[in-house]
Amino acid sequence: MVGVVPRRIFGSLKSARFPGGAVYRILTKETLATDIVRFWIDAPHIARKRKPGQFVIVRLNETGERIPLTIADADLRCGAIALVVQGVGKTTRTLNALAAGDSILDVVGPLGRPTRIEPGVRVCCIGGGIGAAVAYPIAAGVKAKGGRVSAVLGARTKALVILEPEIKAVADRYIVTTDDGSYGMHGLVTQGLQQFLAEGVEFDEVIAIGPLPMMRAVCELTRPIGLPTTVSLNPIMVDGTGMCGGCRVTVGGESKFVCVDGPEFDGHLVDFSELAARLTAYREQEAEASAQCRSLSAAPIGG
Ligand SMILES: Cc1cc2nc3c(=O)[nH]c(=O)nc-3n(C[C@H](O)[C@H](O)[C@H](O)COP(=O)(O)OP(=O)(O)OC[C@H]3O[C@@H](n4cnc5c(N)ncnc54)[C@H](O)[C@@H]3O)c2cc1C
Ligand code: FES
Repeated sequence: MVGVVPRRIFGSLKSARFPGGAVYRILTKETLATDIVRFWIDAPHIARKRKPGQFVIVRLNETGERIPLTIADADLRCGAIALVVQGVGKTTRTLNALAAGDSILDVVGPLGRPTRIEPGVRVCCIGGGIGAAVAYPIAAGVKAKGGRVSAVLGARTKALVILEPEIKAVADRYIVTTDDGSYGMHGLVTQGLQQFLAEGVEFDEVIAIGPLPMMRAVCELTRPIGLPTTVSLNPIMVDGTGMCGGCRVTVGGESKFVCVDGPEFDGHLVDFSELAARLTAYREQEAEASAQCRSLSAAPIGG
């Protein structure tokens, strides 16, 4: 495994674990790209159980909202999990402002169904933007089961490419694409996939994770050639237990809850238009919360 908790942290872990109750301590923090941070968090019970494709629901403090984050990696020796977080709104920005040594109130998981990985399977894992944080553990899981991994990592520009060393360590071949051509292949992740197909690389399955338009575009590419495609959906979640209905999506004409039935589904059956509409339903409230967050962080302490 490439991403492991630095050794110097390990020695101090046992005595310091949960000193004042069940909070989750941040062991390390590392900036991977603009607004994207990797945290290693002390959570031995989650590290032991987690499987590729699963996520946690995080609540920073008593008044904080719950947000889902993929378990990007786990280090069993240290009992820690990695979260890779893109600061897009109030909670993710507040989280990304925390430092090593700080604590998080709740980390609940592992949640969701693990990725189904058949031994020896040939997979093309596609991660667009923060989707690389979900693609990496799946690629590592495929490799661990004797499969063959081809990977496409996409980003808008070179500075936003994340987890390339990690992907490189588990992939038999990989392509980086950037929208502006500043690094790797100039273009979108779909062009990376097309390149593999043109080279005659054979896949049993494509797994695509990233922004909705990206996952939709991959599905439109693979549908006519009958290449099975799994996507990992990212609706707004509230409780993460299948009770609130917040994460409902339509797949193959049936209602599914992403938190318990997913997050992975057959991409050729997902109603992307409905999901895109639901994702924008709270835009006004999110913008308001984000503005409050920014003005709070800009205010002088005690001011
Ligand atoms: C199963 C699952 C796994 C996820 N894993 C990760 C991860 O590993 N790393 C990570 O950085 N993010 C991940 N996300 C997305 C993350 O949960 C959201 O970015 C977060 O909830 C936003 O909260 P906020 O308060 O910071 O922003 P908000 O103020 O709630 O939203 C800010 C902006 O982000 C958009 N947004 C909010 N939620 C989502 C979402 N679920 N998907 C797409 N756009 C959204 C809003 O429309 C708005 O434009 C995951 C989501 C799901 C459902
Ligand atoms: S988050 Fe409530 S049902 Fe899935």
